[in-house]
Amino acid sequence: MTERERTSPGRRALLGAAVLGTAALGMTGKAAATERGTGGPGGGRGGYRDLPVPTVIGHRGASGYRPEHTIGAYQLALDMGAHIVEQDLVPTKDGHLVCRHENDITGTTDVAEHPEFASRRATKEVDGVPLTGWFTEDFTLAELKTLRAKERIPGTRQENTLYDGRWEIPTFEEVLRWADREGRRRGAPVWLYVETKHPTYFRSLGLGLEEPLARLLRRHGRHRENSPLILQSFEPGSMRRLAKLVATPRVVLLSGAATRPWDFVEAGDPRTVADLVRPEGLKWMASFAQGIGPTLDLVIPRDAAGQLTTATTLVRDAHRQGLILHPYTQRNENSFLPAEFRRGTDPAAFGDAFGALRAYFETGIDGVFSDHPDTALLAAADFARN
Ligand code: G3P
Ligand code: CA
Repeated sequence: MTERERTSPGRRALLGAAVLGTAALGMTGKAAATERGTGGPGGGRGGYRDLPVPTVIGHRGASGYRPEHTIGAYQLALDMGAHIVEQDLVPTKDGHLVCRHENDITGTTDVAEHPEFASRRATKEVDGVPLTGWFTEDFTLAELKTLRAKERIPGTRQENTLYDGRWEIPTFEEVLRWADREGRRRGAPVWLYVETKHPTYFRSLGLGLEEPLARLLRRHGRHRENSPLILQSFEPGSMRRLAKLVATPRVVLLSGAATRPWDFVEAGDPRTVADLVRPEGLKWMASFAQGIGPTLDLVIPRDAAGQLTTATTLVRDAHRQGLILHPYTQRNENSFLPAEFRRGTDPAAFGDAFGALRAYFETGIDGVFSDHPDTALLAAADFARN
């Protein structure tokens, strides 16, 4: 019996229908909902334990095909059949939560082309990193709404620049309303995966993220243990704070082994990610979280040539503590793939993403964040069949 079968009883059966995604099966609405949430380890109560496994999470939407964190990127991920659609949250000056990967919006909006905001350009230190650009916390929501989103990596994703300027920065409240609307239309809840970005930094500015986030979750009925939403943060303290405010499931994100969560740095906690992925660290995280989101390299490290080596024991060790694993981030382009899965010499061309996904799924991970959810869904279906 494989590690995956041992640790995920009942999940393989669930895969046969559900992992294909509603789009791949030609199913929508209640038919798809019936396939999900029945008979899985979660007992059909509709919580995260009833999600198809491997769960495919549209990373910043379907950001491989549309500028990230736009309604267009979220809609495409959902239409492709992604099981969950991800949002990263940062605040505005007037305390609204907006969907951006970072507070520095220089690279993902047209702010530099707005002369009226030229004087807002600033140099700051965010989590110990000096940055120069334009920052959400220096703009009111009304001001941010005058900007348009654009592709972050136009050199790699030239096709996505077609959509530059098409969408504005969405607020999280708008995304909740979109998810509620789409959920009603489809007859099945739209799952969201919501990350608090730089929570200690923003709290120091009087812009704590967790309280307004919890208020929005309550207002939209996503504050319960079985709500269709997972919270996530690189700062364990943010998850612990949210655990006191809402019962929504929580995942601790883990960066490189030598790094330390920024709240640990601020609090003088000497533990690194390498400490957190040891059994004692996993046990500690399991006391306030339901899962972890490690880098793919923490699951299968790469060698000096960029090729995959042997899987670590992280999947087994985390499952022993009852934690699910949703590693990040799968992308189809050669520049992001392990070396043995690259095809040709163009870094922007797609390589053998299916081969790489299979290697990761073989480790027994519960899901994956993907910029290309259509590819990850097909790979998950292949994996379920074989
Ligand atoms: O949240 C999972 C993954 O998105 C973490 O990395 O930097 O893309 O937010 P990042
Ligand atoms: Ca994220």
